[in-house]
Amino acid sequence: MKRIGFLTSGGDCQSLNATMRGVAKTLYQANPDVEIYGILEGYKGLIYGNRRKMEPKDFSGILTEGGTIIGTSRQPFKKMGEPDENGLDKVKAMLDNYKKWKLDCLVILGGNGTHKTANLLSEKGCNVVTLPKTIDNDIWGTDITFGFQSAVNIATNAIDCIHTTAASHGRVFIVEVMGHKVGWLTLHAGIAGGADIILLPEIPYDINSVVKALEKRSAQGKRFSILAVAEGAISKEDAALSKKELKAKRKKMAYPSISYEIGAQIQEKTGQEVRITVPGHMQRGGEPCPYDRVLSTRLGAAAAQLIIKEKYGYMVGMVNGETVPVPLSEVAGKLKMVDPKASIIQEIKEMGICFGD
Ligand code: F6P
Repeated sequence: MKRIGFLTSGGDCQSLNATMRGVAKTLYQANPDVEIYGILEGYKGLIYGNRRKMEPKDFSGILTEGGTIIGTSRQPFKKMGEPDENGLDKVKAMLDNYKKWKLDCLVILGGNGTHKTANLLSEKGCNVVTLPKTIDNDIWGTDITFGFQSAVNIATNAIDCIHTTAASHGRVFIVEVMGHKVGWLTLHAGIAGGADIILLPEIPYDINSVVKALEKRSAQGKRFSILAVAEGAISKEDAALSKKELKAKRKKMAYPSISYEIGAQIQEKTGQEVRITVPGHMQRGGEPCPYDRVLSTRLGAAAAQLIIKEKYGYMVGMVNGETVPVPLSEVAGKLKMVDPKASIIQEIKEMGICFGD
């Protein structure tokens, strides 16, 4: 264990630095001579040979710092197999730099796309240990990803703020929550923020059920309603379309996102005044919450232990409160979605919260 390359890839989130700190501190503690390199801007740095030598002081004071001190970029796997615009074979370039830099291990922090590439590098002979990063919480093999809880706090805060203005004006408000193709963030922020209607990609909605729920609230004398809508929410009608048909339909959509379409339909069908709020990338910004700091520190320390033991080809997950190594081949290519039959959904439904189904 001598030379380790750190790499953060994909959309950033709040606890990347805290995680790298956990890995680095544990490695320096075990071997003060270990050399750590920051591979800059995700896989781009590994492809084009950009890195910088890190020192122990680089990992001090970053526990609470959002973003990533070594930069990140999106490098979709589907394009990874294709040469770049100058004909460079990107996979070969990464393997060449790994060898040229005489790395003993790559520590890769990322989400689903990142894990596909990490698994590929591992299959091609690189020593790889990964860590599950994303506000979406959609990585298979771990109960929770770092970034998720911090994003839940921000999205919840957005719903809290909307509550007061919605109540004052007697309006219907939609808060559009990130999460890509899954509903974890919307589900948790929706519950924590007391949303009346929660729409998730995993439970296609019927707009008439949504309207019915709104009308029921009005009939009960409730002057406002809040909807937490996942950016990936989908109607029953659209869920029945093929991928190609859906893509074509969405291309023609007159609205910037699904929330605006839902808002327009509600306004038309109920006559109620609707407003849309999109907190967007704010949900990935700012400092990690205490839960994420603890999670990241533990995952990072456990990743370092794998490196010390030269146990490669694993992601470190958190399962039932314990850090566990999960084979990369089992993680890559899978999506962890909300189970519509899970007790969390049933409990909330029984409170009268509408999921649009
Ligand atoms: O995967 C994290 C995430 O924030 C998703 O929730 C969102 O759909 C996507 O990234 C946004 O990507 P970008 O940063 O490329 O706009």
